[in-house]
Order: sequence, then C-alpha cells, then structure tokens
Amino acid sequence: MKKPVYLDYNATTPIDPEVAGEMIPYIRERYGNPSSSYSIGRRNKEAVDLARNQVAALINARPDEIIFTSGGTESNNHAIRGSAMANRDKGKHIITSSTEHPAVTEVCRYLASLGWEITWIPVDAYGKVDPVDVEDAIQPDTVLITIMHANNEVGTIQPIREIAAISRKHDIVFHTDAAQSVGKIETDVAALGVDLLSIAGHKLYAPKGIGALYVKRGIPIEKLMYGAGQEMGWRPGTENVIHIAGLGKACEIAKRDFHKNVETMFAVRERLWKSLKNKLGGRVHLNTGTAGKLPNTLSVSFKGIEAHALVASLGEEVCISAGSACHADSVKISSVLKAMNMDPAAARGTVRISTGKFSTPEEVDHALDIIINTVTKLS
Ligand SMILES: Cc1ncc(COP(=O)(O)O)c(C=O)c1O
Repeated sequence: MKKPVYLDYNATTPIDPEVAGEMIPYIRERYGNPSSSYSIGRRNKEAVDLARNQVAALINARPDEIIFTSGGTESNNHAIRGSAMANRDKGKHIITSSTEHPAVTEVCRYLASLGWEITWIPVDAYGKVDPVDVEDAIQPDTVLITIMHANNEVGTIQPIREIAAISRKHDIVFHTDAAQSVGKIETDVAALGVDLLSIAGHKLYAPKGIGALYVKRGIPIEKLMYGAGQEMGWRPGTENVIHIAGLGKACEIAKRDFHKNVETMFAVRERLWKSLKNKLGGRVHLNTGTAGKLPNTLSVSFKGIEAHALVASLGEEVCISAGSACHADSVKISSVLKAMNMDPAAARGTVRISTGKFSTPEEVDHALDIIINTVTKLS
C-alpha cells in the first residue's frame, strides 16, 4: 500500500501514468513550435489539435470552442472578466453564488472595484443555490451569471441546467466553474446549456498548470492577454504542448473510464462514511448528506475536535483537508461553511475527505484506523 494514504483528490490528483506516457515524447524529443511550418513544428500542432478534440469530446463541445489555459483560475478569470469587458456597454451587473472558489469570487471583487455591481446569491444548508433566487436577482443591466457546477469543499452540485435555462430566457451569458465536476459527474455543455465552462487539468489526473475554457460559438468575450495569434486569437503565447497533450489524454481517459472511475470513488467514499459512522456514532456528523453531491466528496464534522489539529495530527499518514484554517491564534471558518450557515463549532470540526480513481478499499481501511485513533486521542 502506498503511503501516505491520499484522500484529498479535490485538492489535486496524481498524474495518471497513461497521461505521463503521452507527455514524455514532448518533453524528450518533440520540441517543435506548433506555429512552425516544417514537420517537427507541424507534428506538435497536430498534438495540440488532437488534445483540443479530446477535451471537446469529453464535454460534448466543438474543438474550436476549446481554449487551452493555465488552469481553472485562468479559465475563470478569462470567462468572467472577458465577458464583463465584452459586455460593458450593455450593463455592469453580475450574479454569482456565495460558495464560489476564490478564482471566481476574487475576479468578481476586482470587477466590483472597477464599478461592476455583484449580487451574491445565498445557498441553503446543503450549499445549494435556488434558481428562483437567481431569476429574482436579474436586472435590466445583468450581463453575466456565474455559478459553479460542483463545490470543492462540500461537493454540492448546483442546478446548472435550470439556471442556464433562466439565463437563456433573459439573454444573459452563463458561465460555470466545472473544475470539480469534470470526470466525476456528467458534464455535457449542450445538455447543461452553458455558454462558458472552466476546466482544471490537475483535478482530472493531468498536470498542474493546464486547463481549458469552453466558449460557445458566438459568445463574446475579450481576451486577457495580447500577443500573437495562438489559440484562434483568444490566448496568445507559444502553446504548452507538453501539458496540452497531457490534458487531452486525461480527457480521453476520463471519457473512456467514466463509469468505472465513478464507481470506484463512490464505493470507497461510502465505505469510509459507513465505517466512520459505525465506529464513532454520534461523534461524527455528515454535514450535508450525500444526495446531490459529487460521488467522491465527504464533508464530515467531528464533535469537539478542531479540524486543523486533526489534519495536522494525521501528519504524513493520511492526507485530508480542514474546513477551517488556523491563523495565528484564531480559527477562520471557510466561507463555504459560513454561507451554509453551519454552526461554528461544527464548522471548526469539519474536514473534507475526497476519494479518487486510484483509491482502494485497503487504503481506506488503513486511513480509517488512523483517523479513528487520532479523533479518539484528540477528544
Ligand atoms: C472549484 C474550483 N475552481 C477553480 C479552481 C482553481 O483551479 P486551478 O488550481 O487549476 O487554478 C479550483 C482548485 O482548487 C477549484 O476547486
């Protein structure tokens, strides 16, 4: 068994060996610039084109609707800032939710500092947005709605199809941050009805520092950077062929193995939760249930425990993450748990456990023993 037991797949995933295998020729010998006209360049252009097709196929988009980026953060910045700028003469109101990742909230705050008005839609105790609240928040000058597909901390899946339909009805651009959903739940841009969708490579077994943005044909967005004409003019700079090839392969695998992977991550998560409940009884609480959640994510709260102390005590043996951060002498509860109106003591005891396609029952059983021992020692 590999040590430590890694149960923090929502933070990042290991690179799939098949993905690494795809990247190696571009690290070792295929160094050509995709814009060069001779064969070593052309071959790398073909690699980028293949990857664009693989990403598009995973989310049911057209290849020319995919822009490669440096990750989820850039994709979100490009989508939100790019459409705010492109529509600034039409209006300056944006709707988002109160449980978005900083890669969305901070872009919105930046735009607010430049004069945009932002409406933050609240969530219920399960972290869910009510589409009625979104529709009620629409103003004549609303130009963008951005709501995440699935939450990174608690795994809540938002009613994207309904919200996208509302956006369409009001002729407003709709973006979703799908960094956590791609590869874990069906993420089909046509079925969801979204205009813009962000992908983060390192959440789906590709390397860190690569991602993609889906831009539906005809949706106006401005670019973030200016330079040469790569990425169909959307994103200048010589392509990161090594990582693009890796992301393409990761998307091909995510599509090919989707059902198998979901079954694996779900089965180990369920095993974990059932054993925790069996062994700890009332000392552990499942924060938001598992209905309407990512199949790999567990948000649990340990009674009377400070989550950051638990995570620190697990040390190098089990990797999970805390729902609160310890700064100097104070504990800062995550904005997601706060938005869900969680009782502060429960929030302080909250950890996120997230499984992945490489998780095994043996690993999980081993991790459980360690977690249970540590919780018992700390309580
Ligand atoms: C929901 C969500 N959006 C965006 C990001 C940022 O992605 P990246 O790390 O690729 O910039 C993350 C990563 O934690 C995420 O979970």
